Amino acid sequence: MNKIYQTMNELCIAGANLFVEESQKAILAKGRFSVALSGGATPRRLFQEIAKKEWHEKLEWDKIFIFWGDERFVPAEDEQSNQKMARESLLQYVPIPKKNIFPIPFAETVEQSAEQYEETLKQFFAEEWPEIDLVLLGMGLDGHTASLFPGSNALKEEKRWVVPSKTRALGPERITLTFPVLNHAALVCFVVTGKEKSEMVKRILQPAADELIYPAQGIQPQTGRLIWLLDESAAQFIS
Ligand code: 6PG
Repeated sequence: MNKIYQTMNELCIAGANLFVEESQKAILAKGRFSVALSGGATPRRLFQEIAKKEWHEKLEWDKIFIFWGDERFVPAEDEQSNQKMARESLLQYVPIPKKNIFPIPFAETVEQSAEQYEETLKQFFAEEWPEIDLVLLGMGLDGHTASLFPGSNALKEEKRWVVPSKTRALGPERITLTFPVLNHAALVCFVVTGKEKSEMVKRILQPAADELIYPAQGIQPQTGRLIWLLDESAAQFIS
């Protein structure tokens, strides 16, 4: 389902409302709400919206558990860190217990970071595959999502929950959740804005493109729901 908003502000209000609604549903049904946050720049404004009193007061933070869909292989205080961005735009403003926050660790090696995070997830989710209640995702200009990049071996991973990933662009190595994990989520919500992404949004939302070229098309939840929150600029080529 595509939801299109005139402005980023309207999109973020809708996103914050969705976050509250999904948390209330999950806590009612399971007593907890698990979220995998996305990285990059787009979600910062959404996180700042959720951090506002009018929203965060509606949330039972002691029953909310925060994970990440991907991370850059950098120290937690590095400007490129997704967990740093989430901490500074949301987590430091809400009464969430520190034990409920599961950042992707900056271990000795990127492989160890991936292995340790997979262990963390397996400790928390007892199922064969984790059913994360809400996975937030962004999309890059090349159609990547999380840190699943075009042509990457990570796209073919069918067993591991978390793997290292390399981006063709310059920049740090990455750690990413894999397609099987993302596609076992109860709800996956893309948040994509800006006209520079409109061409790729159109390609991704067309049926039957090859997921190995456009990774975001590989996000097809098995039993969960898929929502795209778009601003009008990003949605200019889709009806
Ligand atoms: C990351 C993200 C990545 C991001 C897209 C879009 O770690 O960078 O997980 O998948 O969502 O690259 O990034 P922007 O929102 O900055 O355009």
